[in-house]
Amino acid sequence: MLPLLPKTLERLTVPPLKIQGIKTRLVRFILGSIRWEGRGRWVEPFLGSGVVVFNLLPRRALLGDRNPHIVRFYADLQKGVFAEGDVRGHLEHEGALLARRGADHYYAVRERFNASHDPLDFLFLNRSCFNGMMRFNRSGGFNVPFCRKPERFSKAYVSKIVNQVGALRRAMEGRDWEFRSCDWSETVSDLMAEDFLYMDPPYFGRHADYFNQWDEEDAARLADRARAVPCAVALSMWKSNRFRVNEHLEAVWGFLEERTTEHFYHLGSSLELRHSMVEALRLSPHVAVASREG
Ligand SMILES: C[S@@+](CC[C@H](N)C(=O)[O-])C[C@H]1O[C@@H](n2cnc3c(N)ncnc32)[C@H](O)[C@@H]1O
Repeated sequence: MLPLLPKTLERLTVPPLKIQGIKTRLVRFILGSIRWEGRGRWVEPFLGSGVVVFNLLPRRALLGDRNPHIVRFYADLQKGVFAEGDVRGHLEHEGALLARRGADHYYAVRERFNASHDPLDFLFLNRSCFNGMMRFNRSGGFNVPFCRKPERFSKAYVSKIVNQVGALRRAMEGRDWEFRSCDWSETVSDLMAEDFLYMDPPYFGRHADYFNQWDEEDAARLADRARAVPCAVALSMWKSNRFRVNEHLEAVWGFLEERTTEHFYHLGSSLELRHSMVEALRLSPHVAVASREG
């Protein structure tokens, strides 16, 4: 059997759900830096948008997130509760109402979602809210404001989302993937030697909301647990930018080997405001692809 990782991706699979900290721009770096046979399960306790596992496509996976709306969306798609046709119908219908009624309609759907938790309303909100953010208030209600683009759901935009949903549904077919809505500690409770644990936790001191209560103690508990699991592990985390170095990374994750990559982002439109961000992948030494190979 050929090893599953490292993997070179020609085309990226882009997930239908968006979230802060989505690893789309880092997924090539992540999947190109790890060695893994793929015999056990790919275990991801902080699934988020799912972009990492959706590009890896392991045979078996355990995918957890504390946010039940993310988990339900992907689990329902996997079980066939909805498919591309339902997504198209929903987005066309709601998109037309949004174009006619504007923000009022967005807020009506938000209220409806917070009462019923319908996964297609969740998708609609996720793709029409301000900056593609995912944020929940203290009572667990989705509370991101409207993006102010009532004409958002053009034919092309709806088709793009439908294609993302379809690609994912087909990719999941025949694969043994289990989705769980739970705390990370439950997802990592029964790991075996051939599994691979990939962690992309929230950053403490950054954005916090109902499903992202994360402080220094949580981060230290995660590292302690990661030291003790019987399988290989990897962790994604930012390392430094022009203004700050993430001290926590070396202090708490120093037992893992480090690979880094740099990416650039713009503040405003001027090229002079192009800042760099160094992102790290910390991983068990025996699964790290040598830097010159990567
Ligand atoms: C940085 S995001 C993961 C991003 C993901 N790798 C991606 O590329 O889209 C962190 C995720 O962890 C989840 N989360 C936060 N606290 C958690 C906890 N205690 N247990 C499990 N999941 C948690 C959040 O809901 C969020 O989806």
